[in-house]
Amino acid sequence: MIAGTVAPVTALPSRLLPDTAAIGDDGWLTVGGCSVRDLAAEFGTPLFVYDEAHLRARCREAVAAFGHGRAVYATKAFLCRAMARLAYDEGMRLDVATGGELHIAVAAGVPASACVLHGNNKSVAELRQAITAGIGQIVVDSFDEMDRLDALHADGIGPTPDVLLRITPGVHAHTHEFIATGQDDSKFGFNLGNGDAMRAVERARASASIRLVGLHCHIGSNVFAASSFGKAAEVMATFAAPLDLPELVLGGGLGVSYVESEEAPTIAQWGNVLLDACAALGVQANVSVEPGRSIVAAAAMTVYEVGTIKPIPGVRTYVSVDGGMSDNPRPVLYGSGYEAFLPRAPFAERPFAARLVGKHCESGDVLMFEARLPADVRVGDLLAMPVTGAYGRSMGSNYNAITRPPVVFVSDGDARLVVRRETFDDLLATDVD
Ligand code: LLP
Repeated sequence: MIAGTVAPVTALPSRLLPDTAAIGDDGWLTVGGCSVRDLAAEFGTPLFVYDEAHLRARCREAVAAFGHGRAVYATKAFLCRAMARLAYDEGMRLDVATGGELHIAVAAGVPASACVLHGNNKSVAELRQAITAGIGQIVVDSFDEMDRLDALHADGIGPTPDVLLRITPGVHAHTHEFIATGQDDSKFGFNLGNGDAMRAVERARASASIRLVGLHCHIGSNVFAASSFGKAAEVMATFAAPLDLPELVLGGGLGVSYVESEEAPTIAQWGNVLLDACAALGVQANVSVEPGRSIVAAAAMTVYEVGTIKPIPGVRTYVSVDGGMSDNPRPVLYGSGYEAFLPRAPFAERPFAARLVGKHCESGDVLMFEARLPADVRVGDLLAMPVTGAYGRSMGSNYNAITRPPVVFVSDGDARLVVRRETFDDLLATDVD
């Protein structure tokens, strides 16, 4: 055994790869009919590679489960114009959480009427932008937001928006504390338990600035337990029943498998849990959901190049790649696990234990605390991390004035650059003095 070797020795599970992943004649991984080696040569590293067929398949699965327009893509997971268009073309509406996300969706050609505006602290400017653009729905989160809507209405800003009220159902989802949102102790929404939810309904019904069409909840993100969703559906259905509103939105939050040991429900299974629970409770309203992660996470991988390998005898080995916390802050923020592999030998055994790190100037810049890699990994190798399509690029940064990686959509042997790599000039674009 070489230093750093650990048991058990396991290969990458193929189910973590995008749908169209295959092995080329030369043994390299292909996605969407494109060799990862060629993609890296053409577009450089780090690089986000999205399998377009996989994205479309997940959108279709959501639309098949919930109905046309009743699956609303949560753009915060990954947004660029190509993605906004793709989700809309496949029959989804778009959940936008800021004026910026709305701007990108509209710039992509998605009608504002197909967008739903979220946010626990929407500004007057964002509300005005959404209303004047003809937003489909606003999910109102607070009494202060209602004050702002009243003020805009008084100023003659219209049309009167269709509104859902975000309810905090008091359901604690089993996920990381930072992304659990359904519990009473939350900055989001109107609490059911203390009567705020009912007070919000009464105020909305009496308000001229709001056309109340339904209720909304979102219990958290990366949730694996179907029972948590079932519980939230039950609580919401019970509250909604006497109110007789046409829309009920049960949020996003379906988890995905990032590592070998995780097994997540499919979108279709999630749909069954939610819709069966609603049917059993006699819900008459249209039931919608807002999946983000489950649409895009596993569609993409990030391709890096290995730059340094530093063994510290008796301690550990550090393998550094040319990106890091600026393209994927999730390991540092949430302690999230990932897998890694070498695209030249995707299913090679991985006996070599190392800490996979980036190129940023701090020790916290970790992509995988306990990576398992093939024993022959060397400087200059391409190294890929699968399941990086959600909340990687969208939470990325320019820390250390690093230029953000490009995004390529691959399909049927074609590689389409949808977001180019940032340039050094881009880093100066907002610097005015
Ligand atoms: N709807 C609402 C109101 C949300 O707040 C979210 C996510 C979604 C839908 C979509 O949830 P999804 O299906 O993607 O789980 N940055 C974190 C995730 C934060 C999620 C925020 N809200 C992460 O990287 O895990």
